[in-house]
Order: sequence, then structure tokens, then C-alpha cells
Amino acid sequence: MIFEMFWKKYNWYRVAAGEGEIRLNASGIGTVELGDKKICVVRFRDVWHAFALYCPHAGALLSEGRIDEGGNIVCPVHAYKYNIRNGLCRVADGYRLRTYRVEVRTDGFYIGVEEGRGL
Ligand code: FES
Repeated sequence: MIFEMFWKKYNWYRVAAGEGEIRLNASGIGTVELGDKKICVVRFRDVWHAFALYCPHAGALLSEGRIDEGGNIVCPVHAYKYNIRNGLCRVADGYRLRTYRVEVRTDGFYIGVEEGRGL
């Protein structure tokens, strides 16, 4: 994943004026508008991460899930766990949560979408 970040190209979208504008729920998960959809954002160990709003298993709202101590997103419905960095499911084969890059810049909070992929 780390190496992918260097050779992949991203389109960047400014989704907030800054990280202070991001509202997090009691589980520490927020949502931002990315084009016409919402995605989740979370700050885990001082690093921002972004991932799809809907669970790839059966579509539950991951904004209602939680982040465990290992940095996995835990779905609120069947408790599947997804690695916050690469979206790989830790408990079942064949499921991968879409993740996005995040950059906090002086002029805003940005989400990076891999070039060639839709939002
Ligand atoms: S809907 Fe998320 S694990 Fe089933």
C-alpha cells in the first residue's frame, strides 16, 4: 500500500476548509461530501483516513461502526473488520472496503481519488 501511493496518480478534491471543520461522532467517525456521495473520515493515531460510507458485505452504514484498537473499521451489523489503510477485510475473503487518501493542506482538507476511478 505504501508503495502504491508513490506511483499511483490521484485527483484531489477539497472537501473542507480544514480538519477543524470535520465533525466526528461519538465513535470518532465523520462524513464528508465527495462529489454527490458521502464518505467516512476518521483520525486514527494522528493520521486521517477515508473510506466508503457503505460496507461492501451488505451495505451497512460504516459511519455507525467503530474503529478498534488495531485500526480496523468494525461494521455495526455483522462486525466484519476492514483494515483502515488498505480496506482489506480481516475476517472474510473477497471483501475489500474502498479507501481514499487524505491530505490536510494549509488551504483545506483534501481527499485523493485514484486517477481513472470514479468517486
Ligand atoms: S453489512 Fe457490514 S459486515 Fe455485514
